[in-house]
Parts: sequence; structure tokens; C-alpha cells
Amino acid sequence: MNILVIGSGGREHTFCWKLAQSPLCKNLYAAPGNAGTAAIANNLDISVTDFSALKKAVLDHQITMVVVGPEDPLVNGIHDFFRNDSQLHQVAVIGPQQKAAQLEGSKEVAKEFMKRHNIPTAAYESFTKETVEQGVAYLSQIPAPYVLKADGLAAGKGVLILNDLEEAQRELRAMLVDEKFGAASNKVVIEEFLDGIELSCFVLTDGKNALTLPMAKDYKRIGEGDTGLNTGGMGAISPVPFVDELFTQKIDERIVKPTIEGLQKDNTPFHGFVFIGLIKVGDDPYVIEYNVRMGDPETEVVIPRVKNDLATLFQAVADQTLDQVSLDIDPRSATTIVAVSGGYPEAYSKGKTITGINDVKESIVFHAGTTSKNNEVVTNGGRVLAVTSFGEDFKEALETSYQSLNQISFDGKYYRKDLGFDL
Ligand code: AMP
Ligand code: GLY
Repeated sequence: MNILVIGSGGREHTFCWKLAQSPLCKNLYAAPGNAGTAAIANNLDISVTDFSALKKAVLDHQITMVVVGPEDPLVNGIHDFFRNDSQLHQVAVIGPQQKAAQLEGSKEVAKEFMKRHNIPTAAYESFTKETVEQGVAYLSQIPAPYVLKADGLAAGKGVLILNDLEEAQRELRAMLVDEKFGAASNKVVIEEFLDGIELSCFVLTDGKNALTLPMAKDYKRIGEGDTGLNTGGMGAISPVPFVDELFTQKIDERIVKPTIEGLQKDNTPFHGFVFIGLIKVGDDPYVIEYNVRMGDPETEVVIPRVKNDLATLFQAVADQTLDQVSLDIDPRSATTIVAVSGGYPEAYSKGKTITGINDVKESIVFHAGTTSKNNEVVTNGGRVLAVTSFGEDFKEALETSYQSLNQISFDGKYYRKDLGFDL
């Protein structure tokens, strides 16, 4: 079959890398892709939210499966767009329907879902412009730190964690009244602060059946020791050393099962990945957030550990036959380290020549923000490359990734040298 992967990051390069290994995959396309996908697929210069251009490409290239990487097209209803179009309705779309995508698109919808299905999460209240003074009063009744979350998508910037009450009250007003995050902060969820260590759990579901993929831990802050600004993710490790059998069982029984059953009870079809952001408080898992896609850079460690044919898994999602599939997981550890452009996550420049990628033999180099120019690979984003390695444990895998990163050069290259410091 012909398969289209939508997106342009390390996650999408990883999907392409894995799908290209499948005997089921005849022609592979990426929209818009990057220099890494260009080497193994046909890049199509189409934005991820330009549904009519995507439709034309799917028809022109006789594509029968579309794998959606990022959240934007999902929250904007790409799955339903395909289902409701007479020329596209037979195309398999891997990525949930719009109603289900609200689990990521609205913090309030996600919190209500968890409340309804008894899924452990932080206590919360939500407020609007009309109830801003109640929100200000609520903050003065709860202990610090204060967790404020813009309800809608805010490119990963919509969550504030503040220690000072007056600052929290000021920020609440800025979000609700001054629209600090635009329409995304028309509603704000104020949450109880949970103190613990975070991890990511990934579930592939066809809406009826579910397979839990390897868990991973990502490193979101730009600076070593988890300091400085939040980023899309600076690296990831899988498996997560502190997740033992008992903890896995708790995640499965208290969170994964009720999540999949909850979607069914609510009549919310879901074909794709559920990414459950978890926090371990004491010995218990709580949900921090749902995403309706794979994580990036977690994909770069999770997918290489899955030995199954990815096109077969995706076909089973489309056919609702995931109950007939069992996962085959590489027991080794995988780590990925992200090399970013100097300045990221604030202003940075693009167009810097990248050298040395082909010298790397011991790791897999997944491209993120790269493009081709005059037969060279150049930087084209904040997160540039994710370098993935295997090892008997995460330390061995990290060592290999660091050695490989030393072989790659570009102006302003930065990466964290302390991944796993907290494990
Ligand atoms: P979210 O976008 O909901 O994942 O929030 C972004 C980050 O804020 C999370 O990865 C956590 O590090 C942190 N966070 C969110 N909610 C809480 C909470 N209730 N308690 C502690 N930290 C939180
Ligand atoms: N690495 C976190 C995310 O993809 O949202």
C-alpha cells in the first residue's frame, strides 16, 4: 500500500524509518517531511492543516493509509474530514477522531473525562472571564505552588507553575481577561500541584482493543539538571528504570483500562495513539495530561524498540483487530539525545550546514528541523536531530549517543549532557 505520514519532526522521520522496513509499504510519502524523510520517502510540500491539498495528494498518489503525527490536524478534525468525504472514506487514518482529540485539545474536557471514569489525577476547578474573581479567591484558599493551565492548545506554553500567590492571581487575570494565550486561555484550569517524577505511557488503540507500548521518560527543560525554559523535549529514555512490574500493573488497571473503557462508554471512537503523561507520587500513578499522538522525542526511543511490523499494527488499528496482535519488544534500553539550534527555545537562526551525519555508524540519526539546500543538509528548526542508540542499560545507550553526537557538527549545536541524571 501507499502510506502518507503527516508532519515534519523526529517523530515523523521515525515513523517513516519504521514503515519503510515494512513489506506492506509500497510507496511512502511525508508531508511536509524533512531532509531525513526525503532520503526514504517522497516529501510533499503541504502544510499539516491544509486538508484540501492533502486530499488531492492522497488521490493523486493512491494513498490508502494516512498516519498523523502532530496534534494540530487531529484537533482540527482531519480524521472526520477523511471519514466524511466520499472519495476518502476508505483511507485508513491513524490518529483519533475530532471528538477524541479534545482530550488533548481541551484540558477541561480531559479533566471531566478523568473525573467521570475515576482516573486518578490532580484535583481541579476551572474558571472563565466571567468567574475570574472566583478564581482569584480560589487561589488564596489552596496551598502553593499554583498550577494554571490554559484550556486550549498553546504550543506547550499554556501551563504556569507559580510559587507566589499574588503572581498566580495576576497571571490568572492575564490569561482570562487579557487573553495571554489568545482563545486558548478563555478558560483556565487551576490544579492541585503533584510532587513526583514524570513518565510517559503510550497506548495504541483501535477504540475497542489496546496495546501498551514501552514507557519512556523525556527531558523537557533546556538546561542541565532540569533547569531553564521548557522545550519540546531534549531527549528520552526507554524503558524507565523506576517502572517495575507492580507499578506497570497499577498504570494498566487504574489508568489504561479505564481510559479505553471510558472512551467506549462515552461513544468516543479513537483510532491511534493515546499518550498519557503520568506522574509517580509516592508509589502511585496520576495522570498529568492526555495527548492524542505519540510524543516527540519519545517516539525516537519507543518505536525502535517495537519489533513488530508497524504497517501491520496500523492496519490492525484501522480494522479494529488489535486483539489479534501481540507486541514484540526489544528488551534493550534505547536513548535519544536531541541536538538543538543555539538560542532555542527562544530565537535561533536556521540554514546552518550540518556535517558528519553519514559518519555515524553506532546510532540512528533521526532528523527533526532539517532541510536540504544545494545538496547539503541544513538546520531548519529549533530541534534539529535526535540521535538514538541501544544499550544493555540506559547509561550504555547514552554513552553511544554522546559519541555519535560528537561526530556531527553545525554552528550553534547544543545538547544536554546530563540525561538520566535523576534516575
Ligand atoms: P501539561 O501541558 O499539562 O503536561 O503540563 C506541562 C508540565 O507542567 C508537565 O509536564 C508537568 O511537568 C507540569 N505539571 C502539569 N500539571 C501539574 C501538576 N498538577 N502538578 C505538578 N506539575 C504539573
Ligand atoms: N515530549 C513531549 C511531547 O511530545 O509532548
